[in-house]
Amino acid sequence: MEKTTMDQDILKILYTEEEIARRIREMGAQMYEDLKGKDPLFVSVLRGAFIFMADITRACPVKCDVEFIAVSSYGNTTSSSGAVQITHDIQQDISGRDLVVVEDILDSGNTLSFLKQYFLTKGAASVSICTLLDKPSRREKAIHADYVGFEVPDEFVVGYGLDYAQKYRNLPYIGVLKPEVYSGKE
Ligand code: PRP
Repeated sequence: MEKTTMDQDILKILYTEEEIARRIREMGAQMYEDLKGKDPLFVSVLRGAFIFMADITRACPVKCDVEFIAVSSYGNTTSSSGAVQITHDIQQDISGRDLVVVEDILDSGNTLSFLKQYFLTKGAASVSICTLLDKPSRREKAIHADYVGFEVPDEFVVGYGLDYAQKYRNLPYIGVLKPEVYSGKE
């Protein structure tokens, strides 16, 4: 297939569509072993996790329900403001439930440390974290994920749900954006 205008903005591919699919199958099998006796509630953090959520829930064939929460912290820049706001909350009582929070990336940790505390305050029995990407070099909060797809270097990654200025989420692979695409816009 010829290079699309999105492909042309990519410096290099970090993980191909096939590599992502293979890793998610492994993660799903591991999560199934941990969750098969439970009645978990998977909570996807919009918008970045929307594609990963669809794939990881099908790779982990446990009887579960799904919810979506939307938070906002970054705006159209490449660095976090640190402040997390809920823009769409989950729709059901979570008291006593075992939650699995599904994220595309764990970066500074601001989003997930806020959400973990929020869900525990609302009465969740447990909150485990499943992230496709982990960027530990950028961590500001003491939080770790229970399930990690790939540990990534501190580069600006897009695709498979991850955006820059709301674009590139529908790339099937994960790539590093060319600096000239975002330089001067941070
Ligand atoms: C991204 C990502 C995580 C968060 C991780 O969301 O989806 O939710 O940042 O960063 P942190 O660990 O530094 O908090 P973003 O705010 O860009 O919104 P999006 O999901 O709509 O892309």
